Amino acid sequence: MENVRVLILAAGKGTRMKSKSAKVLHQVGGSSLVEHVVRAARPLSTELFVVVGHQAGKVQALLSEAAFIDQKTQLGTGHAVMAARERFAGYRGDVLVLPGDVPLVRTRTLEELVGFHRKGQYAASILTAVVANPEGYGRIVRRSQPSAGPSAGEGEVQAIVEHRDAAPDILKIQEINSGIYVFDAPALFEALSKIGNVNAQSEYYLTDVIGILVSQGKKIGACTAAVADEILGVNTRQEMAAVDKLMRRRKCEQLMAEGVSIMDPDSTFIDADVQIGADTVVHPSVQIEGRAVIAEDVTVRSFSRITNSRIGARSTILEGCVIINSTIGEDVSVGPYAHLRTDVVLADGAKVGNFVEMKKSSLGKGSKSMHLAYVGDATVGDNVNIGAGVITVNYDGLAKHPTHIEDEAFIGSDSQLIAPIRVHKGAFVAAGSTITDDVPADGLAIARGRQVVKEGRAPHRKKRSGE
Ligand code: UD1
Ligand code: CA
Repeated sequence: MENVRVLILAAGKGTRMKSKSAKVLHQVGGSSLVEHVVRAARPLSTELFVVVGHQAGKVQALLSEAAFIDQKTQLGTGHAVMAARERFAGYRGDVLVLPGDVPLVRTRTLEELVGFHRKGQYAASILTAVVANPEGYGRIVRRSQPSAGPSAGEGEVQAIVEHRDAAPDILKIQEINSGIYVFDAPALFEALSKIGNVNAQSEYYLTDVIGILVSQGKKIGACTAAVADEILGVNTRQEMAAVDKLMRRRKCEQLMAEGVSIMDPDSTFIDADVQIGADTVVHPSVQIEGRAVIAEDVTVRSFSRITNSRIGARSTILEGCVIINSTIGEDVSVGPYAHLRTDVVLADGAKVGNFVEMKKSSLGKGSKSMHLAYVGDATVGDNVNIGAGVITVNYDGLAKHPTHIEDEAFIGSDSQLIAPIRVHKGAFVAAGSTITDDVPADGLAIARGRQVVKEGRAPHRKKRSGE
């Protein structure tokens, strides 16, 4: 869109969150509140400004391609916009102002608001919504107030009155201010210079600009959001949970529309950026987080968490797996109860079974580790079998060491491979071995105490123990 600048207000502490963290840093759907807002507004303009204050450094670190404006002390939303005055000097276009705590807002709605503003040639346009519970929001006061019962008023907008400053008749108004506006920039900054802070919170309210513009005979537009949910703000933990639930539902709906089966959307947590291919089936109580990418025809069974990982086509993630920062090929089976802790690569056709933990390791094509193993800092070739209870002993208390297991090798159950170590191609490690030296190609290594058999002694022992 031509000549619109975006100004996002994200400097507040968010006192009602009762948190050590600035409010806009809190996450819903896998990203911070402010990231969602920036993502929605970004397509509208190349000139995006964010007002920062509380934990400014952390907010800035999250956002690329934005310009930042410092609001050193936070004296209200009007004061926050005022902080941008210098950066907007000489700018005569429109400015879209958004709070940093409305993560559900969509690009389309913002574009509609800008279109509405331009069509009506307003000095300011407010995105409003009529909601069942207007508690906490600023109310839109129109020329004539509803005569009977709670609803929106009629006629032109006269002012916005904050909940905490509202008289009982104003509190009945159900049309609320979303905190999202488009202003004619010169008119905005001119009106801002006139606002005061005589109100319940002793703050400089951006909302007071509306009454001032009205008193100057300027036209104000109110554009009602088609979906009221979109403008929900997050001020408390309760509101955050409600918004998170809506966001998750939205993501599940989108994926289902694209051909993904989600058996119980209510118990499924899929972050906004996750991608999933058609005909993949997600069972109840699954979490898929961050930038996970799941291909087609995958099955993810209950109680698994997949974070920032890729899963190839037709693979199966059985119950109770934790998979983090890992890459899984096609036709792979993982779990139940496997832990791919980080940087694990499983090639096509590999199998990782019950109670196997892997970290910074790879399994080649068709390789298997089916039961009770720890595989860390290990490079495992193709068609290797890792028996039950095998441990790569990668840590000597000071440093981590690598294990290499080459193609076609066989590691017998309950063996420990003391790293650094290499088991060459086709070698065989006998069960119960503690391997301290490299095993040559096609070699058989047995490293365990020899068995002693004492003929006829078993009944004698049993007698002694009184059996
Ligand atoms: C604001 C509106 C209210 C509206 C609601 C919608 C005002 C006075 N009120 O109230 O009419 O219904 O949003 O969600 O504008 N911020 C700063 N600097 C400050 C203060 C706030 O950058 O000094 C930022 C906050 O970080 C936040 C945003 O502005 O992202 C909104 O502030 P908040 O305190 O949440 O305003 P509300 O009380 O929700
Ligand atoms: Ca708010």
